[in-house]
Amino acid sequence: MLLKSEKQNVVDDFLVPEHIGIIMDGNGRWAKKRLLPRKFGHREGAKTFKKIALAGKSMGVKFMTFYAFSTENWKRPDDEVEAIMRLFEDYLDDVSSFEKENIRLIFIGDRSALSDVLQNKMKHAEEISRNFDSMTVILAVNYGGRSEICMSVRAIAEKVKNNELDINDIDEKLIEENLYTADIIPPVDLIIRPSGEMRLSNFLIWQSAYAEYYFTDILWPDFKEDDLRDAVKDFSIRNRRFGGI
Ligand code: FPP
Repeated sequence: MLLKSEKQNVVDDFLVPEHIGIIMDGNGRWAKKRLLPRKFGHREGAKTFKKIALAGKSMGVKFMTFYAFSTENWKRPDDEVEAIMRLFEDYLDDVSSFEKENIRLIFIGDRSALSDVLQNKMKHAEEISRNFDSMTVILAVNYGGRSEICMSVRAIAEKVKNNELDINDIDEKLIEENLYTADIIPPVDLIIRPSGEMRLSNFLIWQSAYAEYYFTDILWPDFKEDDLRDAVKDFSIRNRRFGGI
């Protein structure tokens, strides 16, 4: 049985993870099954994202990270990339919904490759939602776990080079402090990947060292609140030992 930490809520007799990560996979296949262009799948996926974030909030989840665009996703056709970027913008234009739901929004990933318009909207959304505290939604955009670790190592190396840091001071805490998730975002407890794929695809690779994984064949646009509940229920009966016995 799970040990309940102070930060975990209990819903219907099961423990709710403090931080859930979701790889929103299967949009393309969802569209293909309906003979629609892939971008329609992403549009449905964006609707599911909003619904599942609210479902998480009502279950008492405190942090939810959604993998929205990876550093590898630039390999996709231009029109598909543009359609996904447009979905981000549309979502960010609806600022009133963060206020209504009291949800804080944070972005992780390398923003420099994104358009100025999108970067400004991201910054604005982060600023206005800074003090919203019912839940934090983290959107991973142009995010890659390996490049995040490289970024941390570079920042540390720079300090060693400038004699601000001794090489023996480098430890896990220091690497963590230089990741996108530093300070605010706790390690991820549960990673959910729909659509039948069973891999991490460079998502939160440092932060998921002790995460539990939940895989389901459901395609992301079809993923419902009950599916989130099933995943949390499954998590609740896992025996997490964090290396102990
Ligand atoms: C992976 O499915 C999905 C993506 C690369 C894009 C995910 C983006 C969204 C759901 C839109 C997010 C919007 C907001 C506002 C957060 P896939 O296309 O690889 O699916 P497939 O494996 O079936 O082809």
